[in-house]
Amino acid sequence: MEQTWTIKKLLDWMVERFSQEEIDSPRLTAEMLLSFVLQMQRIELYTHFDQVVKKAQLDKLHHLIKRCLQNEPVQYLTGRCEFYSLSFKVTPDCLIPRPETELLVEQVIEFLRSRDGTQYICDLCTGCGCVAIAVAKNFANAKIIATDICDKALSIAAANIEKYNLSEKIKLLQGNLFEPLIGQLDVKEFDLICCNPPYISRAEYEKLDAKVRNYEPKLALDGGSDGLDIYRRIAIEAGTHLKKGAAVMLEIGYLQGEQVKKLLEETDYFGAVKIDKDFSNNDRIITATRV
Ligand SMILES: C[S@@+](CC[C@H](N)C(=O)[O-])C[C@H]1O[C@@H](n2cnc3c(N)ncnc32)[C@H](O)[C@@H]1O
Repeated sequence: MEQTWTIKKLLDWMVERFSQEEIDSPRLTAEMLLSFVLQMQRIELYTHFDQVVKKAQLDKLHHLIKRCLQNEPVQYLTGRCEFYSLSFKVTPDCLIPRPETELLVEQVIEFLRSRDGTQYICDLCTGCGCVAIAVAKNFANAKIIATDICDKALSIAAANIEKYNLSEKIKLLQGNLFEPLIGQLDVKEFDLICCNPPYISRAEYEKLDAKVRNYEPKLALDGGSDGLDIYRRIAIEAGTHLKKGAAVMLEIGYLQGEQVKKLLEETDYFGAVKIDKDFSNNDRIITATRV
C-alpha cells in the first residue's frame, strides 16, 4: 500500500534528512520548500498539519529536495528571499540578500530621518534592489537612483520595484559604478550614497562555501585581489556626487574596516569616518561624512 504523506510527516522527514546532510537551518529550509510547493504561508503549514499532500506536489517537492541536498540555495529554488520584513524575487543572476545588510538599511534610514525635506539617495550595486526598496518603503521622502553593472540583476530589481509600486521613487540605471550618473540630469548631488559592493578577495573567493561559490554570481562577490577594488573607486569618486554634510555608507567585510576607513580618510572629501558593528560584533558598516 502506498504511504500517505501529511504535511506534518513530510516536515518531520525533511528536517531529519536536512539535519543529517548538514543543510543550514533544516527546519526553516523544510518550511520554505514545502510552503512554496503548496503555495501556502509558512505559518499555514502548522494549521494544516494533517492535510494530505498530493502526488503532483510530492513529485515537485522531491525534485527540489534533491537540488537542495546538492547545496543549491533554497532562495533560488523558491525564487524568493525575505529581507527587512519584505519578500524579494531573487534568481541566480543576483546575490541573495543577507541579514547583515539589514543593518545598512537601518543606518541609512536613521541618517535620512535626521535630515529635512526630500532626500536624494544613490544605491550603488543594487542587485535585486533590496536596499533601495527597503529604504523607500520605510522613508517617505526618499528619491533613489539605484545602479548596477549587470542588466540581468537590474531586471530582477525592476520586478521587485514594480511589486512594491515604487517606480515613482526609485529609478534604475545600468552601468559601471558612478558612470551612469554622469548623463543624468535630475540630481547632481546626493544626500546619501550607500552601497553593498562585491568585497571578497580572490583568496577568500576560492575558499568560499560551495553553496555560495557554485550558485551566486561571481560579479556580486569578487572585489578584486584584496577585495577592496570598489571601495577604492568609491573613496575617490563619491565626494563629487555628495552635498556638504551628506554621507557615504558602505557595507564592509568584517576585516576590512581599518583599510576602508584609511581609503576614505586619504581623500579631501570626508571628515568623520565611523565603523559600526553587526549583531555578531563584527565591523560591518562604515559611514563617512562629506565636509
Ligand atoms: C554584493 S552584491 C549587492 C546586491 C544588493 N545590493 C544586496 O545588498 O544584496 C553586489 C552587486 O554589485 C554589482 N556590481 C559589481 N561590480 C559592479 C560595478 N563595477 N558597478 C556597478 N555594479 C557592480 C553586482 O552585479 C551585484 O549586483
